[in-house]
Amino acid sequence: MSNSLPYIMKGMDVKELEPRSIEESELPTLIAFLNDSLRGAYNWSIDQEYPQVFNKTSLPYLRVIEKEGKILSHAAWRPIIIKTEMGIFKVAVIGSVVTDSNYRKQGLSRKIMESILVEARACGCEFSILWSDKTDFYQQFGFSLSGSEKTAIIDKKLMTTPSQLKILDTNQVSAESIHRLYQKHTVSSVRNALEVEKYLNIPNSKVYTAWQGNELKAYMVEGKGADFDSYIHEWAGDIPALKILVNHILQEQQRKIHWMIPAHSVNLLETLKSEQIFVHEGYLGLIKILNFHSIAAKITRFAKGHLRFTDFYMEERDEKYYLGFGPRALEFHQLEDLTMLVFGPQYPSEIPAIDTNMAKQLDLIFPIKMWIWGWDSI
Ligand SMILES: CC(C)(COP(=O)(O)OP(=O)(O)OC[C@H]1O[C@@H](n2cnc3c(N)ncnc32)[C@H](O)[C@@H]1OP(=O)(O)O)[C@@H](O)C(=O)NCCC(=O)NCCS
Repeated sequence: MSNSLPYIMKGMDVKELEPRSIEESELPTLIAFLNDSLRGAYNWSIDQEYPQVFNKTSLPYLRVIEKEGKILSHAAWRPIIIKTEMGIFKVAVIGSVVTDSNYRKQGLSRKIMESILVEARACGCEFSILWSDKTDFYQQFGFSLSGSEKTAIIDKKLMTTPSQLKILDTNQVSAESIHRLYQKHTVSSVRNALEVEKYLNIPNSKVYTAWQGNELKAYMVEGKGADFDSYIHEWAGDIPALKILVNHILQEQQRKIHWMIPAHSVNLLETLKSEQIFVHEGYLGLIKILNFHSIAAKITRFAKGHLRFTDFYMEERDEKYYLGFGPRALEFHQLEDLTMLVFGPQYPSEIPAIDTNMAKQLDLIFPIKMWIWGWDSI
């Protein structure tokens, strides 16, 4: 990863400036720029919201275009490891993409985004994800709205059974206990308790925990700095304890609570459906595949080894992408089309005119179970 400062001539045309990572001494200037451009109305600093992004160990991932000491454009990224039933995926999470309002439409963000995608690929990231309502802007870099995110709108108390759980409304709780429960998820990022400790202290965030004696049975986190107001974006625990906790939050906050749930949390979604809770179907984010071959190899191993689909294949030939069984294959001309199938929300059986038997088999493979928890979004 290049960390070198380019030689910048005074009076250089903005269009000739190139992106680079920052020096430790520039971190306060960068944070001030981001607070000004993205966090004007808040009384905390952006580095408190993203403790794993804006710190001196993450300098290589903070990319700027700067002229004579003034930051004109910036984006941050971070590689994270996601554990899934198909193995681990290395993912480049991108955020805080911004250009000074006086320097927009001159290609600065384009250069930064392109340089991040090159770096992320070189670091072994298999796909990239970001969250933005500027879909058109990111589509030009090959991102497409993909993945599934279910949001249960909790506007009434859920049915619960009596229990002796003790509920705490404080972020002063054991990071180890939270971390232990978090690791029980089928899809989770690799974190340590120290990171969890930092996440627990993010401003404008409420942490709710349910305990049986000294044992943590469930936790939920609502809010995260400027994001996720009224949204539960991090949680873990067993369903009865989670229901007690969400009832408590509803009572405390006296407003609708939005509970973000991965599509693969089938039992939880069924329970909510049986109680007539409305579940909104959304996208996980804007996703771009960076390494087709690596993703294809993991999916193929899973299909052959776990599902015993011995003739399954997923490959690239002549800049086209194929997946299927023996002579029966689907053909994709662009990675963007495949992204919606790999990560969802499209199910193979929803593809027009697809062979029914093939669709049945492919529906067991795709979409893959993928999810990014709220603390990992940047
Ligand atoms: C979005 C933003 C980062 C773009 O920065 P920028 O430096 O002006 O972008 P660029 O000049 O590199 O634009 C690259 C391309 O995207 C296009 N583009 C720029 N903003 C766009 C938008 N909002 N929607 C669609 N396309 C856009 C440009 O026309 C250009 O296309 P071209 O190369 O074909 O001419 C900038 O407008 C900004 O800081 N906005 C406020 C913060 C924000 O919303 N950030 C994104 C949220 S994560």
